[in-house]
Amino acid sequence: MTQSKVLNLMVNYRKNPVGIDDPNPRLSWQIQAQARGFIQSAYQIQAGCDPAFGAEAGLVWDTGKVNADSSVHIGYEGETLLPRTRYYWRVRIWDSEDNASVWSEAAYWETGQLSEQNWHASWITAASAPGQPVVSSDSCDYFRTAFELPDRAVSARIYATSLGMYRLYINGVPADDTQFNPGWTSYNKRLQYQTYDVTQLLTAGENALGCIVGNGWYKGYLSWDGNKDHYGRQRAVLIQLHATLADGTEQMLISDGSWRTSSGPLLMSELYHGEIYDARLEMDGWASPGFAEHQWQPAVLTEAPPATLVAQENEPSRIIETIKPIAVLNTPAGETVLDMGQNLVGWVRFTVDAGAGTEITLRHAEVLDRDGNFYTGNLRSAKQTVKYICRGGGPETFEPHFTFQGFRYVQVTGVPQEQLLEQFTGCVIHSDLELTGSFRCSDELVNQLQHNILWGQKGNFLDVPTDCPQRDERLGWTGDAQVFIRTAAFNMNVVPFFEKWLRDLAADQEADGRVPHVIPDIPAAGYGSSAWGDAAVICPWTLYQCYGDVRVLEEQYPSMKGWVEYIRAQGDQEFLWNTGHHFGDWLGLDAKENSYIGATPKDLIATAFFAYSTELLVKTAEVTGQPEEAEKYRQLQSNIIRAFREEFVTPNGRVASPTQTAYAVALMFDLLEEKDRPRTAAMLAEHVKENGNHLTTGFVGTPYLCLVLSRFGYTDLAYELVLQKEYPSWLYSVLQGATTIWEHWDGIKQDGSFWSDDMNSYNHYAYGAVGDWLYRIAGGIELIEPGYKKIRIQPQPGTQLSWAEASYSSIYGPVKSAWSRQADGSLELSVEIPANTTAEVIVPDGCQGQITEGGEKLDQVTGVIAVEDNAGGRKLTVGSGSYRFTLNKSAD
Ligand code: BGC
Repeated sequence: MTQSKVLNLMVNYRKNPVGIDDPNPRLSWQIQAQARGFIQSAYQIQAGCDPAFGAEAGLVWDTGKVNADSSVHIGYEGETLLPRTRYYWRVRIWDSEDNASVWSEAAYWETGQLSEQNWHASWITAASAPGQPVVSSDSCDYFRTAFELPDRAVSARIYATSLGMYRLYINGVPADDTQFNPGWTSYNKRLQYQTYDVTQLLTAGENALGCIVGNGWYKGYLSWDGNKDHYGRQRAVLIQLHATLADGTEQMLISDGSWRTSSGPLLMSELYHGEIYDARLEMDGWASPGFAEHQWQPAVLTEAPPATLVAQENEPSRIIETIKPIAVLNTPAGETVLDMGQNLVGWVRFTVDAGAGTEITLRHAEVLDRDGNFYTGNLRSAKQTVKYICRGGGPETFEPHFTFQGFRYVQVTGVPQEQLLEQFTGCVIHSDLELTGSFRCSDELVNQLQHNILWGQKGNFLDVPTDCPQRDERLGWTGDAQVFIRTAAFNMNVVPFFEKWLRDLAADQEADGRVPHVIPDIPAAGYGSSAWGDAAVICPWTLYQCYGDVRVLEEQYPSMKGWVEYIRAQGDQEFLWNTGHHFGDWLGLDAKENSYIGATPKDLIATAFFAYSTELLVKTAEVTGQPEEAEKYRQLQSNIIRAFREEFVTPNGRVASPTQTAYAVALMFDLLEEKDRPRTAAMLAEHVKENGNHLTTGFVGTPYLCLVLSRFGYTDLAYELVLQKEYPSWLYSVLQGATTIWEHWDGIKQDGSFWSDDMNSYNHYAYGAVGDWLYRIAGGIELIEPGYKKIRIQPQPGTQLSWAEASYSSIYGPVKSAWSRQADGSLELSVEIPANTTAEVIVPDGCQGQITEGGEKLDQVTGVIAVEDNAGGRKLTVGSGSYRFTLNKSAD
């Protein structure tokens, strides 16, 4: 009998989420099995309001025994869920011999408001004089109210949101540690509200609630156009508290005209520009009971915004880690500068002890110039400056509220130098996504590259996937997100993060299917570029691939189809896309002088992505059970491919535009006839070699280059590219001291000068898309079936490395592939496969000799289901468990 245990119960990818408004949440669990080769044969789920699952009658759902191996994304199908209710659930499973596990420990999810009808609070806005709403003040709004509770609360929740960015306080302390609420959505269509468990913060007797609201994305400066008020002119809040007392009665408190408002010490807060805080204006106890609020104005009722209120969909942003500065620098220009040792996104927290009125200024920058001076040219108009005016009278600690900075260096004025290292701390803020992957190998520079990729992701996964976190941009550029999503999905669990963003994409898509360049959309940005708009199709498909959850495809299907139909309607040729504005192979190195756009023809790229998105739409239609749609788009796909060949491939099968990106996309998207592929791959390889093992690709070609080389047998060349130290290459920036991925291959040139100020980010994840190749090819973790239900372990050890190790925490559990060369020429391969999945292990070339596992011959090894030798090499089929294979050299 095999022993198994059910653990890591998750609801919509989260453990015990509170405040979700999904009528059919998706339940997943993982299985710990003692023996190898574990497959679940059946499961039973029970859900109810009683954590002890006492009386049968108390259950809202009992699946009974379901004969299926499904253990992820099982949609709740019990009784209709009630608002603001906690549901406990548990699972047991059966193994292949029909032995039942014990019940898992109970987990839970808690619903939020579920419907607009459950909101009783009023939208309120701050007042400058009685009845006069504040409209255009820089200074942030403070709100408060006080209320009595006859007894202690046994359970209390606040549901809150704002127009602008808000922070909530209960009895003087922050309601929780989340930042930048309500997050950034297409505010006039969808507005998130947050749920706070404030049970522990309330007391019997008098309580107070406070809230600060700043401009944030809603009303602050956004983009390079210098405009603010993109979504509306007035900041406002909506707050509703439900407290259940010991006797079972419920008390409700809502925002209304009885609340009081004021300005306060937070004189300015802007995402790009920083903050000004005058601590002399602090109002002690403003969010606590007993505060003399008579000088505050009554709040003004205001109209509800047009948006639909939705419960927070993605993980909140938080201070995820803190970093101490590594040095204080005195620059040649006489500046005092802190070096954090890492280009990070967040802010600086500091403690000072200075007289009242002392001004402390922090300016933030990513790099120093070649003379070692503080450099902010690349920030364009973003000021990234925090000004703090001391209150005096003892140590005081400050950190900003509604702004973030992208920086490694901080220029500080107003603080004695000897206090800097000790009293300043970098706070790293991003969406609190679970880290799921790691890649390491024998080359330290490549390990630094992986570090830089991960930090690029941390810095730019701040509520929405942004291009960069420092200059006056920080926008959800679709192209960048699309090229990076597969790598991102190795490093972190990105599903709720992207689900939210894709809902905004669909919300901002026009009726004709066009996709804005940035999501959430802003007027300055425009729409409709190939490879950017294709994010509408590529991102949901990638999520489905990596997590196996069909719901994202069902939900996004109209948006995906809308984009493909938009393209079809462009220009006068149905199957070619040769009109409109495109970013092409953005920043490709083969661009003409003074152009940002690489040499690969834009219509070739546009038509290639048209074909690719259509192919993914066909697959999506199949997976979501729409055979007629699939057939219709299969026709379209083959017509596009035919048109692509007629237009961009010579009659003899040569890709007419001899660029790396043209070859890479044609091969990656299977646009060439079978017979022409090897030759094209050879031409690509030749192109790379002729360039001295250098790439020439931009945003579009770079993610595919190494993957395509490996697929067609040029893995050694792909390694040459990845290990290339000379410019242009990934390691060039590493050797220049980069700690994140740069926007340009030569953000800092060999002579120490910069790429021009107007577009030079040092934290731009797009080229970090090579992480995908590190995990899949160098590490060897590949999926065969969506969600890694079936896995392929196929490392392709390069001669240049002696070992590599990739691990990935899949929805089923940990996957690992680690190889190392041994002195006798054999290869050790450690593999971990999670329960309820199977894997194929493809033995690398040159290791076709005898194979043992833990010293045993394969036919003796439990868990190894089959061994096949065929033209592609040797393949082992294995069940779940950990294995340590020794792969011996081929017999000579
Ligand atoms: C952004 C890019 C983006 C591009 C569009 C830039 O300003 O930073 O990453 O994709 O514009 O071409």
